[in-house]
Amino acid sequence: MTKEQYIEGIERMRKQKNAIILAHYYTLPEVQEIADFVGDSLALARKAASTDASIILFAGVHFMAETAKILNPDKKVLVPDMSAGCCLADGCRAADLARFKEEHPDYLVLSYVNCTAAVKALSDLIVTSGNALRLVNTLPADAKILFTPDQNLGDYINRQTGRQMLLWDGMCRIHDHYTIEDLELLKESYPGVKIVAHPECRREFLEHADFVGSTAAMIKFISESEDQAFIVATESGILHELKKRNPNKTFYTLYNGDLAHDCGSMKKNNLENIYQALLNEEPELLIEPELMKKALAPIQKMLDLS
Ligand code: 13P
Repeated sequence: MTKEQYIEGIERMRKQKNAIILAHYYTLPEVQEIADFVGDSLALARKAASTDASIILFAGVHFMAETAKILNPDKKVLVPDMSAGCCLADGCRAADLARFKEEHPDYLVLSYVNCTAAVKALSDLIVTSGNALRLVNTLPADAKILFTPDQNLGDYINRQTGRQMLLWDGMCRIHDHYTIEDLELLKESYPGVKIVAHPECRREFLEHADFVGSTAAMIKFISESEDQAFIVATESGILHELKKRNPNKTFYTLYNGDLAHDCGSMKKNNLENIYQALLNEEPELLIEPELMKKALAPIQKMLDLS
C-alpha cells in the first residue's frame, strides 16, 4: 500500500470506529501529522482522561498507553507495536520497589510517569516532567521521599526545590548520553545560541542550559523567544513541531543526523502499524483490573493537582 492509502484508510477507520489517535512529540513526523492530538506526557494523560472516543490508539511507548488504559478501563486501547518500551520504566521493577517499601515504610513514593502500571500502583503520587516541580511541593516539607525511576529528573527537582529525595538508580539512555564535550563543540561552532534541555539530562549538562523543561515547555519557550537559534537537547522527534511553529528559526541537535540517538521505541510507531492496529483492533493493551484500580489513585491525584 502507498503512504496515501494508509493515510486514507486511517482517516476512514477512525471516523467509523470513533477512535482517537494520541501521539507523543517524539514519534515520526508522519505519525504526528495523522494524530488527533500531539503532546507531552502530561498533555497526553489529560487528553486520555477527557476523551469520549470508544478506541484510543496510542502512538508513544508502552507506559503511556498503560496510563491511558488506567484512565479508561472500559475503552479499547490499541498500541501499534507492543514492544515499544522505555528504559526508564524497565529500570524500576515493581518487586524491587515493593521491597524498598517494606524496608522503609516511612517513605512516600513519588514516581515519574515513565514507569510501569505495577510501579504506579505502589506509588503515592505520579508526576511528569511538566508538573514535577510544582507537585513535589504538595507533599509535606518534612516528608521522606523516594523518587523513581529517573535519577537525573529527581536530582533536578532536588536542586530546584531544596528537597532531599532519595533517588532511584534509573535514567533515559537518550538524555543521559548528552555530554558537555559535545555541547562545547556545538557552542564553539555556533556562538551565542540558546541551550534548551529536557530535565532527564545529567546535572552537569543542565547547568549549561538557558531553559529546562518538558517537551511542551521547550516548544513554548522556543516559540515565544526572540532568539533565532537553539541547541535542543532532547529526542529528535521534537524538531517536527519546532520547525512547524518556527519556520525561520534554526535548531541544532547533539549528534546531528545520528539515528542511534533517536528513541527507537517511539520510532516503532508508523503509518502501516497504525493502519493495521485500527483495522484489526489489536494489539489491544489489557491490564489486570485490580492493578488498574491501584495505579489509578496516584495518577488521578496528579491530574486533580495539576
Ligand atoms: P515529557 O513528555 O514529559 O516531556 O517527557 C518525555 C519523555 O517521556 C522522555 O522520556
